[in-house]
Amino acid sequence: MPHKVLTIIGARPQIIKAAALSRAFRNFYEGKITEILVHTGQHYDDNMSDIFFRQMNIPRPHYNLEVGSASHAIQTARMMERMEEVFLKEKPGAVVIYGDTNSTLAAAVAASKIHIPVVHIEAGLRSFNKSMPEEINRIVADHLSTLLFTPTKTGLKNLINEGFKENSEPPYHADNPKVYHCGDLMLDNSLYYAGLAEKTSNIMADLELQPNQFVLCTIHRDLNTDYPERLTAILNGIMQVAEGLNIKVVLPLHPRTRKKIMEIKGSEAVKKFQSHPMIMIIPPAGFLEMCILEKNTALVLTDSGGVQKEAYYFKKPCVVFRPETEWVEPVEYGCTLLADADEEKIFFCCKTLTENPPENFPPVFGNGKAAEFMAEKIFEFLNFQNR
Ligand code: UD1
Ligand code: UDP
Repeated sequence: MPHKVLTIIGARPQIIKAAALSRAFRNFYEGKITEILVHTGQHYDDNMSDIFFRQMNIPRPHYNLEVGSASHAIQTARMMERMEEVFLKEKPGAVVIYGDTNSTLAAAVAASKIHIPVVHIEAGLRSFNKSMPEEINRIVADHLSTLLFTPTKTGLKNLINEGFKENSEPPYHADNPKVYHCGDLMLDNSLYYAGLAEKTSNIMADLELQPNQFVLCTIHRDLNTDYPERLTAILNGIMQVAEGLNIKVVLPLHPRTRKKIMEIKGSEAVKKFQSHPMIMIIPPAGFLEMCILEKNTALVLTDSGGVQKEAYYFKKPCVVFRPETEWVEPVEYGCTLLADADEEKIFFCCKTLTENPPENFPPVFGNGKAAEFMAEKIFEFLNFQNR
């Protein structure tokens, strides 16, 4: 009998991340590991969810819990209630969770309470800012997990500082967890899909863009969208960049940000932004389109975790609309600058990075084979459990 692993996905970046490990399970463990995919339904628009299954050849989820949007507590509680039923029915050997969303938190709590080992991918990241919902989610997820895969040395250091051991011995369980430092499986994905994207995506022609003649921008953090003064400062900063550097800005707009911009549509900044000739607001893009935009952009402006890393993979400078970041290595190498929601600083950082682009992007996210490594370690763990 193959081992059964149950993978929880829900938000856009988790669907994308799951593509890499699912591929490794299919390629190397066919007949040995069966993966049950459970989509919580946290993201549900076609361009926030389905498009990735189509583009990235991800198997269709076996379950969709259809929780949709709600407050943190309601959304998380609905997920936990519906997940528990699936966990009890499927009885997996492990539950795999990604990152730091409410879907991650719900699965960590629901699975560990019924003694199903939790495997946390992208463990150990910390912003040291608990006003971020993601920081709470990742701390809880890490401390309930049995296997933790951390993508960076800083992640490993953070876990050790919180009491995790670097060299624990089996049997592994929630009180004797195993930490692996193994690189980032999103690097695997960027390498894997960039080639396919070149062959299939027409986004450069469709948007009439020339390489290095535009800036790619994304905004979605609640810290930025839910405070009109911060959102307005960011929009003003983006307009300053477009005008001051005379460059187009391409903004695939997250639905959360679209809604929040609509709520302050009376403001002069928003009116100017929405009709600005240099600013191209487009719907959320597919992953293949993102690969092409990232590969061809002059600069990335973002508050996304994933997009910060992808900027680095494609050797592009990046300006972040946050006061701090969990992805500290690119900041240490001067490839990412933190501008927070400060209009002047956003412009200044962009000017600095376009005038003096960083040349060195040392390989801090592994070798592009993280998913293979994770699949092997998960398989070893399941074998040990069943011995
Ligand atoms: C969530 C994660 C965040 C992650 C992001 C990735 C949490 C707490 N936040 O933030 O860590 O970086 O996903 O994109 O888990 N909406 C739609 N259609 C959708 C999905 C959302 O319209 O398909 C709108 C709804 O108005 C919803 C809002 O976006 O209320 C926010 O969605 P939610 O999933 O709660 O949080 P995100 O901001 O997407
Ligand atoms: N992404 C995408 N389309 C978009 C914006 C982002 O496919 O319009 C991808 C991006 O390339 C990265 C992931 O989504 O792989 C990052 O997700 P997001 O920014 O939503 O969340 P975060 O990484 O901040 O949690």
